[in-house]
Amino acid sequence: MHLPCLICPPPTAISGLIKCNFILMLRIRKFGYKDAKEVSRIIKECYLKLKIGGHTKKGINSQIDWNSPENLVSRSKNIKYWVAVDNNEVVGICGYDDKKVHTLFVDLKKHKKGIGKKLLSKILNEAKKDGLITIKTWSTFYAESFYNSFGFVTKKKLYLPEGTKDVILIKMEKDLRQLTTVFNKNIIKK
Ligand SMILES: CC(C)(COP(=O)(O)OP(=O)(O)OC[C@H]1O[C@@H](n2cnc3c(N)ncnc32)[C@H](O)[C@@H]1OP(=O)(O)O)[C@@H](O)C(=O)NCCC(=O)NCCS
Repeated sequence: MHLPCLICPPPTAISGLIKCNFILMLRIRKFGYKDAKEVSRIIKECYLKLKIGGHTKKGINSQIDWNSPENLVSRSKNIKYWVAVDNNEVVGICGYDDKKVHTLFVDLKKHKKGIGKKLLSKILNEAKKDGLITIKTWSTFYAESFYNSFGFVTKKKLYLPEGTKDVILIKMEKDLRQLTTVFNKNIIKK
């Protein structure tokens, strides 16, 4: 139940309830090993509760295993991961290496509040600073249009593991020379 907020601009009435548009501070910082458990939980919940598309049950389980806390820690030696933190609580993750954007996930409870946009903007800006000219990603069906809105172009479908259809992802690519989106404000909609 949303309560009226005395600080915000006029609240919006939704289905008879009052929705509060209170604004919170969001911080993007580097991933640390202590974040792995919560990040793994966020990813697992997205796979189990969203209609992410392109995954069989076996494929979903393989992705959950791939994103166990231990595997995230191990991959963080090669992938530069960043996390979004709201009020000391980790609410999202994204990373990159010299080729790809990896593991963009936002806590299900916090979707559509601008967190994914802020994380991906940070990653693209960091990758550009590191000298990358283009960057790829292997998107879920669910996130394809989100990546399109950042200028990623759809290339082709990928069938993983090779020869099966357990996981179908979409190979996408962005030219970082066209990167103009910069989000400086640490503000999200609650
Ligand atoms: C994709 C994802 C990271 C987006 O995170 P989010 O915090 O909800 O996104 P934002 O609130 O920053 O959304 C920014 C904009 O994209 C839109 N958007 C958000 N999710 C979207 C989606 N799945 N498809 C299309 N548009 C989307 C929002 O409406 C918003 O539009 P606006 O700026 O016009 O208001 C999140 O939905 C997620 O975790 N998905 C599951 C995991 C996944 O599939 N990740 C990709 C792995 S490669």
